[in-house]
Amino acid sequence: MTMHVRDFRETDRPALTALWEACGLTRPWNDPNDDIDRAVSAREATILVGYRGDQLIGSVMAGHDGHRGWVYYLALDPAHQGRGAGRELMEEAGLWLTSRGAPKLELMVRDGNDRAAKFYESIGFERQQVTVYGKWLKAPSESSARKAS
Ligand SMILES: CC(C)(COP(=O)(O)OP(=O)(O)OC[C@H]1O[C@@H](n2cnc3c(N)ncnc32)[C@H](O)[C@@H]1OP(=O)(O)O)[C@@H](O)C(=O)NCCC(=O)NCCS
Repeated sequence: MTMHVRDFRETDRPALTALWEACGLTRPWNDPNDDIDRAVSAREATILVGYRGDQLIGSVMAGHDGHRGWVYYLALDPAHQGRGAGRELMEEAGLWLTSRGAPKLELMVRDGNDRAAKFYESIGFERQQVTVYGKWLKAPSESSARKAS
């Protein structure tokens, strides 16, 4: 069965957060619901979801920061991995970003996620010679802090 890709709708939320949990993408300091809220309320961001039949099996979040296009939360239900759907979602994210003028797509892979690194390399991404720095501008939300404790 082919995958149907469309923009996130509010009714996708429970299945989407469950998918991110199942794929090991959630972290105590990032409330996935806050991440969804920010993406859907930003003009230059989207969450694309992939369905096979009535099952949400994949997702990708894309955003244009005015310089580069970025991708987060690429996830495929483990039962549906290895069948080309991850590649397809990345192509859809690339089309979305291209249509908004982004000349380059960048993404971050957590240390140790060798599987994802190999996947990205096999679909044409090259490791960049940069180190990513981060600093919180706002304390992680109370709900996230509670989950972390
Ligand atoms: C990473 C992930 C999205 C890949 O999705 P997928 O649907 O399984 O990947 P695809 O089937 O589209 O694979 C596309 C290509 O990547 C290759 N590939 C995928 N995983 C690979 C691996 N571990 N090693 C080498 N190549 C790999 C495939 O062989 C395929 O190449 P081909 O088309 O030449 O045969 C999926 O494994 C996933 O959801 N992982 C958990 C969440 C995660 O880590 N997300 C990334 C966060 S940065």
